[in-house]
Amino acid sequence: MKHKAQVQLETHTVEDTQQFGQTLGKWVQQNGEPLCIALIGDLGTGKTHLSQGIAKGFGVTEEITSPTFAIMNTYDVNRTHLYHFDVYRLSEAEEIYEVGYEDYLNSGGIILIEWADIIKSELPKEYIEIKLFYHEDETREVELRYVGNPAKEKEMLKYVDFSN
Ligand SMILES: Nc1ncnc2c1ncn2[C@@H]1O[C@H](COP(=O)(O)OP(=O)(O)O)[C@@H](O)[C@H]1O
Ligand SMILES: [Mg+2]
Repeated sequence: MKHKAQVQLETHTVEDTQQFGQTLGKWVQQNGEPLCIALIGDLGTGKTHLSQGIAKGFGVTEEITSPTFAIMNTYDVNRTHLYHFDVYRLSEAEEIYEVGYEDYLNSGGIILIEWADIIKSELPKEYIEIKLFYHEDETREVELRYVGNPAKEKEMLKYVDFSN
C-alpha cells in the first residue's frame, strides 16, 4: 500500500484492498456507533472485495458475496448486524425505501452500500465515504472521508494510518 495525499492511498493487490477494509472494519466495530459506509466507484474497482475486508474486520465470519440481485444481504455479528447493499439496479434513489432502508438505518447495525452515489440524496447526515478509482492493472486509488464529522474523520484516518 502506498499512502498519498491525506485522504488517499493506493492498493496494488486484491489482498491490499481487503486488508485496508479489514482495518477500517475494525475501527467501525470499536467505534460503536450506528454507521453507514458509502462505497462509490465504477464496476470492477473493488467495492465487493473491499466490503469483504470491512465485514471481516467488523466480525463477520462467513465470506460475503455480492448482493447485486438480492439488493441487500444481512449478516449477524455478535449482537448486531451488517446490512450489505448493492443499489446498482435501482432506477431512482427513493426505491431504496422499498427494501426497508429506513428500518436498517435506525436498527443500530452497520450499513454498507455499493454504488452509494445512486442514493446520495438518501444517505444520512454522517457517513463514511470511500471512493475507488482504477489505475493500471491491479492498482486502485482509494479515497476515505467521514462526511459530516471532521473530528471523527481525523480519528478514523489516524487509525487506518492514512498519514504520509
Ligand atoms: N487492488 C485491487 N483491489 C481490488 N480489486 C482488484 C485490485 N486489483 C485487481 N482487482 C480485481 O478487480 C475486480 C474487483 O471486483 P469487485 O470487488 O467485484 O468490484 P466491484 O464490486 O467494484 O464491481 C476483481 O476481479 C479483482 O480481482
Ligand atoms: Mg460489487
